[in-house]
Amino acid sequence: MLVLGIESSCDETGVALVESQGAGLPVLRAQALHSQIDMHQAYGGVVPELASRDHIRRVLPLAETVLAQAGVGLPQLDVVAYTRGPGLAGALLVGAGVACALGAALDKPVLGVHHLEGHLLSPFLGADPPQFPFVALLVSGGHTQLMRVEGVGRYELLGESIDDAAGEAFDKSAKLMGLPYPGGPALSRLAEQGDPRAFKLPRPLLHSGDLDFSFAGLKTAVLTQAKKLGPELDARKADLAASTQAAIVEVLVRKSVAALEQCALDRLVVAGGVGANRELRSQLGAAAAQRGLHVHYPEPALCTDNGAMIAMAAAMRLEAGVQAATRDYAFDVKPRWPLSEIGSR
Ligand code: KG4
Ligand code: ZN
Repeated sequence: MLVLGIESSCDETGVALVESQGAGLPVLRAQALHSQIDMHQAYGGVVPELASRDHIRRVLPLAETVLAQAGVGLPQLDVVAYTRGPGLAGALLVGAGVACALGAALDKPVLGVHHLEGHLLSPFLGADPPQFPFVALLVSGGHTQLMRVEGVGRYELLGESIDDAAGEAFDKSAKLMGLPYPGGPALSRLAEQGDPRAFKLPRPLLHSGDLDFSFAGLKTAVLTQAKKLGPELDARKADLAASTQAAIVEVLVRKSVAALEQCALDRLVVAGGVGANRELRSQLGAAAAQRGLHVHYPEPALCTDNGAMIAMAAAMRLEAGVQAATRDYAFDVKPRWPLSEIGSR
């Protein structure tokens, strides 16, 4: 079965082709990606209208590239999958519209995928795929969640951010330090030259006894510290970046370990853009070595948004029989869509 996947929920247009053969995991045949980072950089963040228009320009050429790379013709596709939500409404509509138009023209079924399920299942595309059950730490620009994952489509929310997501904490702190968008990678690069103990920043909800997160207060503390430094900020920026990163990472690591203990599991999957963070990986690695835990990541290139994870999630849902592709081309999108509400269609 050949599944074409289209991702257009935010600022990356991604298209990929995944093949499943029944036995074993589906495999990635080809993928192509266009990042809009350069376009949005001038505005310091994603401009939704520009994002939608750029997805329109990119999606079909990317699909052609993917099919050519794989040596597959349009009539050979079995299913066209797309990101149905959550994300920017206009951006989602581009992928959904193109996927459903392709499906209708080819008389092939379509399937709408939850973006976070794509992130969650993306480590299955790598060299070190996890086994069910596991705990997943989903850390993207819009979400910070810990989930217990029993199998495809069987997700139980253990805890989540009650305000800003971890990615947002990186992005907003970076912005108020005058770093370019997207702030996460910029802040973590700068942090490499700084002292993580230079500033005492709060570790929100670290001892709350539950698995929820809160990062809004941290951003305020970073702002207060930046203001206090005044003209000195430039000289101390790397220290402030390192201290901010250390606070976010410590909370993520401690809560992930607590979630594993609570579930009596020893496998953790880390997915979403913040999963690319080197300090997070190194601290999780240290905690895992100490406690005999296994941490699985997507390939570095598949941490941030991409089409491969959407095609993969669709193929895994179809293989597991939790969802059927349909010829219902009257598509809708779900800009706000909790993963816990994911159903069979
Ligand atoms: O998963 P993703 O690509 O998009 C969403 O679904 O939101 O995640 C994007 C987020 C942004 O907040 C970005 O700053 C953050 O991931 N990010 C990082 C790193 N790379 C991306 N944060 C910290 N360190 C990184 N290396
Ligand atoms: Zn994402």
